[in-house]
Amino acid sequence: MPIKFENVSYTYSPDTPLAKKGLDKVNFELKDGTFNAIIGHTGSGKSTLMQHFNALLKPTNGQIEIAGMTITADTPNKNLKNLRRHVSLVFQFPEMQLFENTVLEDIAFGPKNFGYDKEKALTSAKYWLKKVGLPEEIGGRSPFELSGGQMRRVAIAGVMAYEPDILCLDEPAAGLDPLARKQMMALFSEYQKEGHTVILVTHNMDDVADYADNVLVMEHGKLIKEDSPKEIFKDRKWLQEHHLEEPKSSLFAAKLTNFKFKKLPLTIDELITGIEKNLKR
Ligand SMILES: Nc1ncnc2c1ncn2[C@@H]1O[C@H](COP(=O)(O)OP(=O)(O)OP(=O)(O)O)[C@@H](O)[C@H]1O
Ligand SMILES: [Mg+2]
Repeated sequence: MPIKFENVSYTYSPDTPLAKKGLDKVNFELKDGTFNAIIGHTGSGKSTLMQHFNALLKPTNGQIEIAGMTITADTPNKNLKNLRRHVSLVFQFPEMQLFENTVLEDIAFGPKNFGYDKEKALTSAKYWLKKVGLPEEIGGRSPFELSGGQMRRVAIAGVMAYEPDILCLDEPAAGLDPLARKQMMALFSEYQKEGHTVILVTHNMDDVADYADNVLVMEHGKLIKEDSPKEIFKDRKWLQEHHLEEPKSSLFAAKLTNFKFKKLPLTIDELITGIEKNLKR
């Protein structure tokens, strides 16, 4: 079933002098099994939007259909466990979601919470510890003794370990070195190709170009555009007006003024193919 946002608005601290609109009448539909990127300036509402997918925040107005549930302002919290089995979120600041004594216990928490027996939860935790590129010996350490990048990987392993249908990641590659970022993105892409839905907040337009089927652009709490990366990145003037970056490949292609590109290259592979074609001419 697609994920559907209908006129979703969210206000922080409503009815107080500090009231602040986080989302403003947001409408969209995401298809099952797609890779979706959410982009936009700092403060545009990306994290606020992300927290609606698993109802950590509930809409002040409007409604969300997700994983067979309808979420509104009035949805009671006791109904949310089933939702969170299907929709998991890695926070922008993952140290906020680590709390067990050891890394393995932390990763096993989700699977246990959602009904895996102890042994199966531990097996899954060990498997995902490795999948996110952490060495086995880290499993016995306290998650709070780790580096920021390692904590992030533990948090990612912790939500992937019960294999949610919908995986939401708020800037999961922040604090990772370029190689680790690549490995992590490949992991999410593989997860999507296995049939899951991935929703990713990122400032990295190369990742958007490489992996996303669909892009949502946020600005001041509003969804200002939703389209394929090809359509989003085609309009350079629009991107500049909204202070959005371009993928490196399309920037590079634009600087090769003697070259003609039939289609705008968005990825390194497309750029290489385009350059080769020009050189053969
Ligand atoms: N807990 C909060 N209380 C009040 N206002 C908030 C709170 N969290 C966010 N906001 C405000 O809501 C707006 C959207 O914030 P949000 O964190 O969703 O932005 P973002 O797009 O994720 O930014 P970034 O790229 O910096 O992570 C901002 O103006 C922010 O100041
Ligand atoms: Mg954010």
